[in-house]
Amino acid sequence: MLTPHSIIAVIGSGTMGAGIAQVAAQAGHTVKIYDIQDGAARRAIDNIATSLSARVAKGKLAEGDKNAIVSRLTAAQELGELADAALVIEAAAEQIDIKQSIFRELAAVCSPEAIFASNTSSISITAIASGVEHPQRVAGLHFFNPAPVMKLVEVVSGLETSPTVLESLTALALRWGKQPVRCHSTPGFIVNRVARPFYAEAWRALEENVAPAGVIDAALRDCGGFPMGPLALTDLIGQDVNFAVTCSVFNGFWQERRFLPSLIQQELVLGKRLGKKTGQGVYRWP
Ligand code: CAA
Repeated sequence: MLTPHSIIAVIGSGTMGAGIAQVAAQAGHTVKIYDIQDGAARRAIDNIATSLSARVAKGKLAEGDKNAIVSRLTAAQELGELADAALVIEAAAEQIDIKQSIFRELAAVCSPEAIFASNTSSISITAIASGVEHPQRVAGLHFFNPAPVMKLVEVVSGLETSPTVLESLTALALRWGKQPVRCHSTPGFIVNRVARPFYAEAWRALEENVAPAGVIDAALRDCGGFPMGPLALTDLIGQDVNFAVTCSVFNGFWQERRFLPSLIQQELVLGKRLGKKTGQGVYRWP
């Protein structure tokens, strides 16, 4: 049973891990962040503090509340420190072997009652759970970028996931002010399955020189009613993350052409033009 006093662990301190940790700390939980890269979790906490300070400066958050949120965030040096977590949310790289090995290691550390949730955008929850002790406690809890802003959370069941776990995660997401939707584990779940053709057609339009990126994005944003155009959105998400999800959905659906990854996007990834986080992707970012 997850309560407002439950300790939450977040594995991975990239954009999504940091965003999820912020959401949990804002909801009053003690949050432990673990990242395999030395110092990364500490840097993520500093970045969260900076972003919360900006809200204080705008008059949208009290200084005391900011300090309380930041004080609930700690950087764990090793997985062993996560033994008292009631829920572990994994937000590591979108690679099945990495996710499987994280949860297998955690199973040796955490209590059998601890819930293991993956923030995967596309990978089978059934596959992630396989080989993990007590696989019925493994589920998907998929947030959207920026996690502190976006309301939607997909609560994803694998073949073994227990209904109690799904109910606990759904109730938790509601307590965190999110809008949970339940779905079964298939490649890309709901959003990343339906959104793939949105990105893919924008890349193809760019490849076919239909219009420059800014024009394609403006058309969808200003006339289509989306908050961002599809190409700018891939910059926000991260070209590496978006490309990995496309490849995962493409392979998950037996390489159906409708999910074909873009060669232009692959070039951006190879050139480390990863979008907003590196300052250059389809666009230059300040
Ligand atoms: N962290 C915390 N808060 C943030 C933020 C961040 N990274 N980025 C923006 N915000 C906050 C701002 O502080 C601001 O808050 P206030 O209104 O309280 O002041 C609010 O969000 C709006 O921000 P801005 O005024 O700076 O800019 P905006 O109105 O253009 O909104 C946006 C920015 C929220 C990113 C908006 O453009 C948007 O919703 N874009 C679409 C995002 C989207 O579709 N995300 C899903 C991507 S798919 C994915 O993530 C899943 C996957 O599996 C890969």
